[in-house]
Amino acid sequence: MRASLLLILGFTLAYSESFITKEEYASGLYHNPRGVGCHLCHGEKGEGRLIARYRDKGENKVFAGKPINKLSFHEFYEKVNSRILGMPRYYLTDTEIQTLYYYLHHVEFKHASKQPAKAQ
Ligand code: HEC
Repeated sequence: MRASLLLILGFTLAYSESFITKEEYASGLYHNPRGVGCHLCHGEKGEGRLIARYRDKGENKVFAGKPINKLSFHEFYEKVNSRILGMPRYYLTDTEIQTLYYYLHHVEFKHASKQPAKAQ
């Protein structure tokens, strides 16, 4: 009985939003937005990322996720919820879009300082 109460309490604490900061929530959403993480195609800080090089009809081509950390909120909002070739459709809520925008414009610096130290 006591064990199951503790279990319930543990779950309640783990899932209660007040235990993670806004930065942590924003970073979590960017990396795992109910689908493929944005960072995989747009880079850790939204700086853009080369996804693949390939040849098409004898020409060298690249498939890349554009930088998304310099857009105005309006542009970001419009694009994220539109159909874009090569990008999954996420159906994000307004709050989620605001949170992702917050991540790209406020959390990036913190994140950059968390780079692992160089091996000696
Ligand atoms: C599978 C790869 C992929 C993932 C994952 C992905 N995107 Fe994209 N995204 C793209 C591609 C490809 C484009 C179009 C680039 C182009 O037009 O050259 C794009 C375009 C965009 C644009 C418009 C950029 C512009 O200036 O036109 C925004 C904003 C954007 N993505 C945001 C996001 C966000 C936020 C996420 C996560 C919720 C995300 N993307 C996840 C591939 C991806």
